[in-house]
Amino acid sequence: MALHVALFLVLCLVHCDTKTVLQDKLAGVRTVDVQAVEGMVAQFPCDLGTAANDKVYMVFWFRDDAGIPLYSFDVRGKHLSEARHWSAPEVFGPRAHFSTSPPPAALLVRDVKRRDEGVYRCRVDFRNTQTTSFRYNLTVVVPPEKPVVVDRWGKVINATTLGPHEEGEDVLLTCRVLGGRPEPSVQWLVNGVLVDEEYEHNTGDVIENRLLWPAIRRADYAAVFTCQAANSHLVPPKEVSLVLDMFLKPLTVEIKKPSEMGEGGVLTAERRYEVTCESAGSRPPAMITWHKGKRLLKRITEEHRNNLTVSVLSFVPTLDDDGKAITCRADNPNRTSLYLETSWTISVVYPPVVRLRLGSSLAAGDIKEGDDVYFECHVRANPPARKLSWLHDDRPLAHNATARVFHSNQSLVLQKVTRHSSGRYACSALNAEGETVSNELHFRVKYSPSCRSGGVSVVGAARGESVVIVCEVDADPPAAVFKWKFNNSGETIDVAADRYTSNGSASSLKYTPVADLDYGTLSCSASNEVGTQVTPCVFQMVAAGKPHPPRNCTLWNQTVDSAEVSCVAGFDGGLPQRFLLEVYSADGVKPRVNLSSEEPSWTVRGLEWDVRFRLVAVAVNAKGRSSPARLDDLLFSDPEKRTASEAPLGVGGMVGAAGAGAGAICALLAGACALSLRRRRRPPPHKPPAPAPAPPPPDLDDAEPDLIPNNYCEAASAPSLAVSSPGRTAPAPLSTPACNGPGASWTWSARSRDLSAPGGGALTEGAVGRAMGRSASATLRAAPDLNVDAIKEKLLDHRIPESCV
Ligand SMILES: *[C@@H]1O[C@H](CO)[C@@H](O)[C@H](O)[C@H]1NC(C)=O
Ligand SMILES: *[C@@H]1O[C@H](CO)[C@@H](O)[C@H](O)[C@H]1NC(C)=O
Ligand SMILES: *[C@@H]1O[C@H](CO)[C@@H](O)[C@H](O)[C@H]1NC(C)=O
Ligand SMILES: *[C@@H]1O[C@H](CO)[C@@H](O)[C@H](O)[C@H]1NC(C)=O
Ligand SMILES: *[C@@H]1O[C@H](CO)[C@@H](O)[C@H](O)[C@H]1NC(C)=O
Ligand SMILES: *[C@@H]1O[C@H](CO)[C@@H](O)[C@H](O)[C@H]1NC(C)=O
Ligand SMILES: *[C@@H]1O[C@H](CO)[C@@H](O)[C@H](O)[C@H]1NC(C)=O
Ligand SMILES: *[C@@H]1O[C@H](CO)[C@@H](O)[C@H](O)[C@H]1NC(C)=O
Ligand SMILES: *[C@@H]1O[C@H](CO)[C@@H](O)[C@H](O)[C@H]1NC(C)=O
Ligand SMILES: *[C@@H]1O[C@H](CO)[C@@H](O)[C@H](O)[C@H]1NC(C)=O
Ligand SMILES: *[C@@H]1O[C@H](CO)[C@@H](O)[C@H](O)[C@H]1NC(C)=O
Repeated sequence: MALHVALFLVLCLVHCDTKTVLQDKLAGVRTVDVQAVEGMVAQFPCDLGTAANDKVYMVFWFRDDAGIPLYSFDVRGKHLSEARHWSAPEVFGPRAHFSTSPPPAALLVRDVKRRDEGVYRCRVDFRNTQTTSFRYNLTVVVPPEKPVVVDRWGKVINATTLGPHEEGEDVLLTCRVLGGRPEPSVQWLVNGVLVDEEYEHNTGDVIENRLLWPAIRRADYAAVFTCQAANSHLVPPKEVSLVLDMFLKPLTVEIKKPSEMGEGGVLTAERRYEVTCESAGSRPPAMITWHKGKRLLKRITEEHRNNLTVSVLSFVPTLDDDGKAITCRADNPNRTSLYLETSWTISVVYPPVVRLRLGSSLAAGDIKEGDDVYFECHVRANPPARKLSWLHDDRPLAHNATARVFHSNQSLVLQKVTRHSSGRYACSALNAEGETVSNELHFRVKYSPSCRSGGVSVVGAARGESVVIVCEVDADPPAAVFKWKFNNSGETIDVAADRYTSNGSASSLKYTPVADLDYGTLSCSASNEVGTQVTPCVFQMVAAGKPHPPRNCTLWNQTVDSAEVSCVAGFDGGLPQRFLLEVYSADGVKPRVNLSSEEPSWTVRGLEWDVRFRLVAVAVNAKGRSSPARLDDLLFSDPEKRTASEAPLGVGGMVGAAGAGAGAICALLAGACALSLRRRRRPPPHKPPAPAPAPPPPDLDDAEPDLIPNNYCEAASAPSLAVSSPGRTAPAPLSTPACNGPGASWTWSARSRDLSAPGGGALTEGAVGRAMGRSASATLRAAPDLNVDAIKEKLLDHRIPESCV
């Protein structure tokens, strides 16, 4: 170093006249501005621009006006590439180097320091030509620090995103830049466009630029906010960029109705539908919720496609859903205030829902005959029900004013109900979706008891015979009390309660008539909580026995293969009778053919030829069979052998076979009546039966026996039978020995004394005696369906004159 300075001084002494010379020379030299970034390389060009005939000798570098060089380049006696470099260590030292190739030559200073700033000079000395000088004004640039962005609250934003912000908010950002020389400019760019270059210098070397970006919009989403700080072209500006994030409200929400909807956009109840709702425009993507009315629906699936949220709701509308709104709501998941919704009011169709009720003001358990009632049919239907119909016990119940059945809107009115109104009721409604039958209502009408078998029943019983009379009533609720009465035209007496047993539907009375006075009318009436039976059940007690056999049986019109048989009906025993014709083969015990008939006439055909058949006619009633009435044997002759001698049909011995017949005709003449009265006063006879004690009066001379049934023979008795035939002169009045029971006796009068009959028993004295003791009573023809009047009439027809009693 010392050597260099010494050298320079020597050279100066030789070649130049020190400082003054220097200044002179600099006076006209232009100053070149040189900029260098701190830490980087500064370059001072210094052209050696040699003339053809000259040569560079020395190059010196000075700072400002200093006379001592800070760098020298010595080419004396050497080639340019071998020149000697020297750099003053207290100035640039090793940082500096004068580079000559490639041209242009320049002094390069590495790692420029802030203190390097200043004016420098380069002087080139040539061997011959004049020295040239260059002047430099070096400025050292210090770049600013990286900008820092703070939000409106002064908080440093330490991220690359801004927000999220909502639409309409203001964005207020402050960019703060520290340091930099020269002072940097700080500016805001949005999406690369300069928007704000007004910055201010704050305390120290801090520079700030506040940016107000008001009322951000959806379009601002993802905008890039950049703050740049720059103070030199040598280095790129320092900058910070922030991307704006936003919470966006959904833009659209739309319900896509199911395609399988019915006409008019209706849904069918109880069917599953899938409804889609789409929403776009939300950020973050929308969340979709569904509501039916106010209820949240759960059965949904959600899917996100780009900016679209698709939600599918699967639901089954019920009839309660008709008219309800299905709402689809798209929510920004992070901001509850950012939502959009749409709704769809559904129409649900369903078959009618029908419910039947008894009129609300009525008590179901307390309806009696005669009450007015109504039913209400509650119908819910969409579309509205077109038709309402009513059913009673599954049969349609039409409006019928005469039957007091009224259909009124949704009600059924029944006026003055009867027991027949009881049963199951239902109503039925119809609409396009179907027909529905309501619940069944069991409707009960209470009613007072009434006789189950209307009219008068005739009960036949022989004296001493016990019969059980069952009085059956129809009542709801079941009859609680039964009462029996007996009326024998003289008096009416109540039957003691212990004589009969009752349950809710029937009462049974065991009755044993022992005397005439025990025959009469038994009546029974029941009562329940509704009332007492209006018309009692009436049982006409009649003295009854087996019927008398048919009489006067005749064979008619016998042909080759058929014959007709007809008889006159005997006394029916007090009960309805029917007739049987039994055909026996010669010795047969069992009949070959039985013919039954309501009337005592039959047609016999289909029997073999030349075989003798026995014919027996009998009458049958509830008490049993009459004794048989035999007819002539029947013989069909082979027509070939047949002769003209056809015997007339006759009874012959058959009268005997018929047994002791009581006269079927019981007509008692006044005289006979007197007789019987006389006999009554006699002591009880134990004699064999005597023929009629007195001959009949002439006016009674009749072809028929006159016999009045005072009472009827007992079951075991063989009734009398009178059979007449064309061949007989006089019919035989017959009496039966069996007519001696306590309840059966006969009073008769007959002209014939022939009381005995073949095969029949003799009339005993006892029977007669008892018979005398009985007063006459009427002959009753019993029929279950007979009415009281008919009975009365009969009673009168056969009434015995009072004198008989
Ligand atoms: C050098 O440059 C700086 C700034 O660029 C200026 O202030 C100064 O006056 C200049 N000096 C000379 C001598 O030109
Ligand atoms: C936030 O800034 C702190 C220093 O200020 C730094 O240490 C940290 O890494 C930064 N975080 C992010 C995410 O940039
Ligand atoms: C959603 O994205 C589609 C394409 O991806 C675009 O065309 C449409 O405008 C977007 N809609 C909204 C609301 O952002
Ligand atoms: C939005 O909210 C969800 C859940 O609440 C959360 O995970 C997400 O980070 C939030 N997004 C933003 C951008 O705040
Ligand atoms: C109405 O009711 C009466 C009495 O029950 C019946 O005779 C008549 O046939 C009914 N009319 C109709 C149209 O059913
Ligand atoms: C039947 O219904 C109609 C309409 O609902 C009503 O105006 C009318 O009064 C009703 N009639 C009766 C008898 O309830
Ligand atoms: C008893 O019967 C007679 C005739 O059979 C009748 O006239 C009378 O009214 C009855 N008396 C009672 C209380 O039933
Ligand atoms: C009531 O008595 C009648 C006749 O005895 C009988 O037929 C009927 O079954 C009885 N009913 C009840 C409920 O006991
Ligand atoms: C018996 O029958 C014959 C012939 O039909 C008849 O003339 C006669 O009157 C009948 N007798 C009686 C009592 O009916
Ligand atoms: C007998 O037959 C004739 C002719 O067939 C008939 O007119 C007559 O009525 C019959 N007699 C009887 C009693 O049936
Ligand atoms: C006729 O009736 C009797 C009893 O009534 C019976 O024993 C007999 O078998 C019957 N005969 C015919 C052929 O029906």
